Amino acid sequence: MVLKETLLRHGYRFESDTDTEVIPKLAKFVYDRLSEGTSVNGEETQEVTFSQVVMEVMRQLEGAYALIFKSSHFPSELVACKCGSPLLLGVKDAAEPEMKMDQFINNDLLHDKRQGRPKEYFLASDGSAVVEHTKKVLVIEDNEIAHIKDGSLSIFKFDTAKARKIGGVPRPASVQRALSILEMEVEQIKKGKYDHYMQKEIHEQPDSLTTTMRGRLIRGGESKMKSVVLGGLKDHLRTIRRSRRIVFIGCGTSYNAALAARPIVEELSGVPVTMELASDLVDRQGPIYREDTAVFVSQSGETADTLQALEYAKSHGALCVGITNTVGSAIARGTHCGVHINAGCEIGVASTKAYTSQIAVMTMLALALGDDSISSRIRREAIIDDFFDLPSKVREVLKLDIEMKELANLLMEEQSLLIFGRGYNYATALEGALKVKEVALMHSEGILAGEMKHGPLALVDETLPIIVVATCDATFSKQQSVIQQLKARKGRLIVMCTKGDAPSLCSSGACRFIEVPHVEDCLQPIINIVPLQLLAYHLTVLRGYNVDQPRNLAKSVTTQ
Ligand code: AGP
Repeated sequence: MVLKETLLRHGYRFESDTDTEVIPKLAKFVYDRLSEGTSVNGEETQEVTFSQVVMEVMRQLEGAYALIFKSSHFPSELVACKCGSPLLLGVKDAAEPEMKMDQFINNDLLHDKRQGRPKEYFLASDGSAVVEHTKKVLVIEDNEIAHIKDGSLSIFKFDTAKARKIGGVPRPASVQRALSILEMEVEQIKKGKYDHYMQKEIHEQPDSLTTTMRGRLIRGGESKMKSVVLGGLKDHLRTIRRSRRIVFIGCGTSYNAALAARPIVEELSGVPVTMELASDLVDRQGPIYREDTAVFVSQSGETADTLQALEYAKSHGALCVGITNTVGSAIARGTHCGVHINAGCEIGVASTKAYTSQIAVMTMLALALGDDSISSRIRREAIIDDFFDLPSKVREVLKLDIEMKELANLLMEEQSLLIFGRGYNYATALEGALKVKEVALMHSEGILAGEMKHGPLALVDETLPIIVVATCDATFSKQQSVIQQLKARKGRLIVMCTKGDAPSLCSSGACRFIEVPHVEDCLQPIINIVPLQLLAYHLTVLRGYNVDQPRNLAKSVTTQ
């Protein structure tokens, strides 16, 4: 607002209400000012450089951004910079042999013209956008400037805090940076035989879960030991076990995944777990202590709210653990330790395979934390056994695709859909509803079944469709009673139950069923979400909405 008002006072006119439009106009304003300052009596004294203009713009900006500047004043030049939001530079050199990981490059090496080797540069917010051109990337850091001029690249570090303090732009320092290699294959970003990325990613889950588990679950050997190895956490498990509490922090689907894992983490670690939506923690400036372990869950690793909560928790001295899908992301770099979920590149805005892999990783975290307890050994071994069966069980539940399409056909004209769950599957209710509203643009609400009588029951009639998750676990009899009460109000019920349980839940034929395979209770949310993902997908296609880029949403929410 302040910048816009200044520009308005100087005669600039705006065509939109976006913050973004302020930036190029500010750049023009800065350019004119700097140009005036470099001419004495009409004589040019010193040339204004493009990076000088951009640094002055950066000095005046607040908040998160990733920007690329082009200007008719500086033909054949491009300047990129970032603060908070992700930005990476891909470097392609067809003539050059493969560069080794961590090979340090400096500006000289990147100066194409001098080396006589043509290079192509790609700027993007995510590796998936450049991987089809090159795997060699350089992650641009906050307050860095990448300046491409006549085919040569220079990278500068610019201290914005100092610039603000002194009210001008200090001399930027040239920096050396390491190139890294993207761990991603081009096939991962192609739709292949599928119509949409969301559909592909739902069907990929047997494989993504296998990759998530690979090398981490151990069964067999001479001692017939069953255990879990999480390399990124092994030196920190003692500290986590001794924490006063574990705080799970995330947004949207990542929060839901943490909620699904919460009971097993509490059960096996004995440490109380509290849940925090990242934005709410920051808004409240909620208490975080040095004795806490704060676990940051994020697919992208770049979500602005989660990042802000991370800075907040770090400043309060908590041990910060990252659970992300993106190697080299801001959360992966900013946490003290962590685990990559290795679900593979997720492109659809609706998170699907990352959700199931996040639950798998947090369940493995629970197993690792409980590893020193003899009393829970049988339980842990049963979970590990079911982990090994998980990909085939997910493959089995994916066969419900046609059934879910039929259900979507029945529900496509509806205004609203309620989903009731409890225990491990409270998260399933929340996540199923999030998927439906996010892509199918249909109102949907996930409700804790234990809260039914405290308000939601008033909504129940013979028209409103309700999904009740009632798979076999310790809360089964309570869900039986919920179903009875909903039936008594003539509720239009769709019951998700374990294969073979349908008659004990509703024998009158009044309910429709979604029957799923059984696994250990803590892994059941991984199975149960799949039919709901399929339902959301088919609803979206039938209602004619954009599956992979839902209205108003972005894959990575890098602004607040
Ligand atoms: C998921 O389908 C959503 N697009 C959204 O809720 C997402 O999970 C949330 O923005 C958090 O993203 P992150 O996991 O990348 O931090």
